[in-house]
Amino acid sequence: MSRETTEKVKYGNWVSKWLLYMPAATALFFLALSSVSRWFTIAAAFFFIVFAYFALAYLRFSPSGGDLQTKIRDLVLKRLEWNGRGQALDIGCGNGALVIKLAGQYPQAQVTGIDYWGGNWGYSREACRKNAKIEGVSARTTFKKASASSLPFKDSYFDVAVSNFVFHEVKDAKDKREVLKEALRVVKKGGIFVFQDLFLAKTIYGDLDDLLETIRGWGVREVNFENTSKRAFIPGFLKLPFMVGAIAIIYGKK
Ligand SMILES: C[S@@+](CC[C@H](N)C(=O)[O-])C[C@H]1O[C@@H](n2cnc3c(N)ncnc32)[C@H](O)[C@@H]1O
Repeated sequence: MSRETTEKVKYGNWVSKWLLYMPAATALFFLALSSVSRWFTIAAAFFFIVFAYFALAYLRFSPSGGDLQTKIRDLVLKRLEWNGRGQALDIGCGNGALVIKLAGQYPQAQVTGIDYWGGNWGYSREACRKNAKIEGVSARTTFKKASASSLPFKDSYFDVAVSNFVFHEVKDAKDKREVLKEALRVVKKGGIFVFQDLFLAKTIYGDLDDLLETIRGWGVREVNFENTSKRAFIPGFLKLPFMVGAIAIIYGKK
């Protein structure tokens, strides 16, 4: 990749600022009331621990604390076996990290990122475009606002579709399996897909074997599974189900 400026890319953090500010402000609020009752002191301590947990997670996800976010995202690319010719899609691209890496790795590819943006993370299309420019891949990357529940592309349009840590967030789809089905709709026959999400969370996707059978039932030729939550580089404290303790990859060929 040839960089176009000396500016640094900003890919954000999966721990939103809200998850830091909210418990910190609540801890301070209860601390201010601690002379009234010791229960307020206990409440202040509880919210301080919550704050400390998310602050540590924020640090470990960020480039200065081990860059776990990039390492987890890279697991998707490691599963991708592609000749790099054609169109690729990243669903829920955030600030464009995966789109930009794909474009860098496959110099002949055109890569599109879609995202609903506007949530707590502070991701935006502007940030995607800026990052793509910094990394020198603007000409081969496109960013569109859309929901993963209803992709603005015709059936079988893409050679490749990827997604990282997004489907469980899609609020306008009650059944997250439908988001997966929508993602596969836009992949062409014989095209490749690699999706990482909280596929081990039964409350979201139901039974895993049943999920894989359901996908095969949609006519998908090859469906594989990898339990990425077991990766040794992920520290124990992040393996809670609401963090990355239930992540896994579903990949294959349509
Ligand atoms: C945890 S972030 C992951 C971002 C990115 N994939 C990455 O690896 O850094 C979840 C992303 O899902 C996006 N998202 C949430 N609901 C969405 C929807 N309905 N359609 C598309 N993207 C959505 C958010 O805007 C956010 O960018």
